[in-house]
Amino acid sequence: MMVPIKVAVSAGKGGVGKTTIACGIASVLAAQGDRVLLIDLDPQSNAAWGLGADPTQPGTAELLLGDNPIPIQISDNLWVLPGGPGLKGHEVMRLDPEALADAIAAFDYAAVIFDCPPGWDHLERLGLVAADTALVVVDAHPFAIQGAARVIETLSARRQKQRQGAQRWALVMSRVDLRRTLDKDLEAALIAMFTDIDRLLIKQDVALSLATTERIPIVKASPNCRGIIDLQKIVGWLRNG
Ligand SMILES: Nc1ncnc2c1ncn2[C@@H]1O[C@H](COP(=O)(O)OP(=O)(O)O)[C@@H](O)[C@H]1O
Ligand SMILES: [Mg+2]
Repeated sequence: MMVPIKVAVSAGKGGVGKTTIACGIASVLAAQGDRVLLIDLDPQSNAAWGLGADPTQPGTAELLLGDNPIPIQISDNLWVLPGGPGLKGHEVMRLDPEALADAIAAFDYAAVIFDCPPGWDHLERLGLVAADTALVVVDAHPFAIQGAARVIETLSARRQKQRQGAQRWALVMSRVDLRRTLDKDLEAALIAMFTDIDRLLIKQDVALSLATTERIPIVKASPNCRGIIDLQKIVGWLRNG
């Protein structure tokens, strides 16, 4: 069996574009022929909703608590397990950090993507520990850079202790508009702070936000938009980087 890609899309801050990127790379990987499962770790279940699934169906919380929820099929190669309020419950809070990694061990997908929520460190950790790769999403706001620094610290500490979880990661500069001074300065700030970490880029593109609003995977919603080229580069990094 081929080794699957397992990627956590994380940040340490909300509103930076995690869910847009998670849905986007899921759509691109599926269009390239891989069977893809997106696991929504957000109590708000934005990723499931944004891909067109019923976000109230059993999903990640039920999986974590030992059930076998059936992933919802979005298209030929794309499935999603919704998040939902169950993820905020005490039972999920008390799980081992390895619980999600264990729960997906026998899954048969070429790619599994975890959309991590902001402000729920234990949920984000479940994703980071189940993943082999992390995308740490950041925009030009200082809070986002601080959030990314915290995630990278957690990842480095775990790797140093040879714990299970993401062994490699990249920063994704998100919603970048190079006409904005702050955005132009972002890369310099990241280079100064995270010298040897790969940097990827998603430019501001209204097609990306429309796709999740219209609840259609981006490759189907807008196959020729600029955002897809940025997403394809990220997928290239995931495959070979
Ligand atoms: N590259 C982008 N171009 C334009 N709008 C974007 C882009 N990425 C995200 N957005 C918009 O920004 C908002 C927050 O994005 P979202 O993916 O939900 O962030 P998060 O999951 O980190 O909270 C949404 O309204 C989304 O449509
Ligand atoms: Mg989100």
